[in-house]
Amino acid sequence: MTRNDRANFGSKIGVILASAGSAVGLGNIWRFPFETGNHGGAAFILIYLACVLILGIPIMIAEFLIGRHSRANTAGAYQKLAPGTLWRWIGRMGVLTGFLILGYYSVVAGWTLEFIGEAAANGFAGKSAADFISSFNSFVGNPWRPVLWMVLFLLATHFIIVKGVEKGIEKSAKIMMPMLFILLIILAVCSVSLPGAGAGIEFLLKPDFSKVDGNVLLGAMGQAFFSLSLGMGCLCTYASYFRSDTNLSKTSFNVAAIDTLVAVLAGFIIFPAAFSVGIQPDAGPSLLFITLPNVFQQAFGGVPWLAVLLSVMFYVLLALAALTSTISLHEVATAYLHEEFDFTRGKAAKLVTAGCIFLGALSSLSLGAGKEYTIFGMTLFDLFDFVTAKIMLPTGGFFIAIFTGWYLDKKIVWEEISNDGTLKVHIYRLLLFILKFIAPIGIAIIFINELGLLR
Ligand code: TRP
Repeated sequence: MTRNDRANFGSKIGVILASAGSAVGLGNIWRFPFETGNHGGAAFILIYLACVLILGIPIMIAEFLIGRHSRANTAGAYQKLAPGTLWRWIGRMGVLTGFLILGYYSVVAGWTLEFIGEAAANGFAGKSAADFISSFNSFVGNPWRPVLWMVLFLLATHFIIVKGVEKGIEKSAKIMMPMLFILLIILAVCSVSLPGAGAGIEFLLKPDFSKVDGNVLLGAMGQAFFSLSLGMGCLCTYASYFRSDTNLSKTSFNVAAIDTLVAVLAGFIIFPAAFSVGIQPDAGPSLLFITLPNVFQQAFGGVPWLAVLLSVMFYVLLALAALTSTISLHEVATAYLHEEFDFTRGKAAKLVTAGCIFLGALSSLSLGAGKEYTIFGMTLFDLFDFVTAKIMLPTGGFFIAIFTGWYLDKKIVWEEISNDGTLKVHIYRLLLFILKFIAPIGIAIIFINELGLLR
């Protein structure tokens, strides 16, 4: 395809919202709180913020410039910028990573649909924290319901992908992002005013660095990559649809700021509520789903219509936030198959959807019927999460930094960042220094440290 007949995002705000739509999702509202809970709270959050600033933003700019300069899917991008070299494997690994992420992400996205139904039926009324825990466990262990919801969710993703970039992706992001934000603020205010919420706020704000080990570092780095949609060519693919006057570094700052704000807000919803009703912060993937019904129940239980309204709104928006993320993951693989193998977009999308339904069913079943089958002591669901977020994404980020910092012609880097010299960019030297040295060395040290070689 030539430069001109590829689709484009229609407006500047559309570019930011679509990228932020990719970044903001279950990673912020579901994964960030449970990783924070597993890793001890405030200290984890501080390290996470450092990872976003030092690794996340520079690597996001790198992905943006690779995508926009090549105007191709992620594997095609390396093929264009580094023809005949092994670099295209970075793109291919990204496509594989996207499949694996969708393979469990869509399961959790499906759970949100079940919760919309629960909320609409005022199903949270009169239940205790223990009730929420047991009904959640029996739901995810059910062999049918979560799988059906997962399939439904992937079909919705499929439908939007087939409709194309501007109409589908951009429009949905423009409407739902601001709504989600407002609702999160309302819920955070409710949560921090619950009785006993103080302990949760302390958990979020008072760092205890004595608990920081290799695991915490790897967790924070993985969460930064996951939440910002980095390391697998997702934002690289989106940037291939950016306009040539999009300011790449500014967009990257904006997306990182929105994403971080949503994650921190989610923290202020989940932890005060969890401590208030005595749910352990390290409850893992179930944390969001057993804590939030409590917030609705306790804060609004006295006014049932309000409880129903707000809880339905919340789960609908959560599902939509997840949808703008699954779309971006799906798009990576669809664009790859479409452009590299000459499938029509529709056929490419069908193959991706079918593959993801297969993986999704396996990982959903691994939480119930297939619980005994573990690999390295993890269910398939946990394994997909661990391998993608903590290994594949940082590895992808490592190579993206090296590719941009060392391999790519600096003329291209400068042209893309400054939009052919029309923008003043103050961070150019710093950016190159980070991509050349800080990011690769930082990621390598965290990996090596986790393997226990530095102690
Ligand atoms: N960042 C999204 C979230 O927080 C998930 C996501 C979308 C993602 N695209 C990605 C994660 C690419 C890693 C890589 O929910």
